Amino acid sequence: MEKPRVLITRRLALAPDSVLGAGIEIDQHDSEEALERRELLRRVREVSALLAVLGDRVDRELLDAAPRLRIVANHAVGYDNVDVPACTARGVWVTNTPDVLTDATADLTWALILALARRVREGERLIRAGAFRGWAPTMLLGRELRGRTLGVLGYGRIGRAVARRAEGFGMRVFFTARGGGVPFDELLQESDVLSIHCPLNAQTRHLIGAAELLRMKRGAMLVNTARGPIVDEAALVAALESGYLGGAGLDVFENEPAVHPGLLNRDDVVLLPHLGSATQETRQSMARIALEQVERVLRGERPTSAVNEVAAQ
Ligand code: 8YV
Repeated sequence: MEKPRVLITRRLALAPDSVLGAGIEIDQHDSEEALERRELLRRVREVSALLAVLGDRVDRELLDAAPRLRIVANHAVGYDNVDVPACTARGVWVTNTPDVLTDATADLTWALILALARRVREGERLIRAGAFRGWAPTMLLGRELRGRTLGVLGYGRIGRAVARRAEGFGMRVFFTARGGGVPFDELLQESDVLSIHCPLNAQTRHLIGAAELLRMKRGAMLVNTARGPIVDEAALVAALESGYLGGAGLDVFENEPAVHPGLLNRDDVVLLPHLGSATQETRQSMARIALEQVERVLRGERPTSAVNEVAAQ
């Protein structure tokens, strides 16, 4: 009997055959570069499973190209790159990798908050430019976090982990979430640091646009480790350029990997290349979970981290 095949669209932090049994044929794009769309559509033709990452768009076109597909194991907690209803309609499981990346992402969020508040990037650059001429009482003064308000937009696993860490820094926490917390307007008005942790969907696309940025406190800082398109990047640049917003810490971008040119040369902005979950431990756990989902479904078992429900096949 022909072995079922899995397409793995990137190099992983774990060798796939350390999890997948010998009964599964592995086709891996063993590279840090994305698979070109045309190549992706060609290589899914015979596959029963797809291990995808955030840049891989799983839509009707891809599903049409992959008639044998039974599972899309997304190597991420977010799954805005996957058309879940279209997968469900075709009996294709969609799984994600929750929990294991919560702490790593919350830590990185705080790295951005602290870097912004304490001007870490500017200080680092000054030294490397050979411009450090000695300590001065007024050099690169930043902002104290103690007593300030952290606004957490989206109070799921990651939002809550970010909020827990705020206690250590003496910050007051406000949050909004579906069915809880303070009203969105109050969050905007009260936050000295607003940190985004909601998923990207039709309701949250450009949730933070020009009007919302202007409802924030003058001088407040915006941090995004969720998904770029939740923020209208052009409006963000305008709010920074006008001096209204106090700074931005961004791990994600509206048109990733492209970054709005207006962000690139600003001292009040810290930019990271989508590193939220990028620790050795977390990336290995994410790979393991995604591979285990593939193994289970191809063995005819239910996946353990499905985001949809598929009728028995
Ligand atoms: C990943 C992420 O780096 O899990 C998520 O939703 O954004 C990150 O952890 C990325 O999605 C890899 O596919």
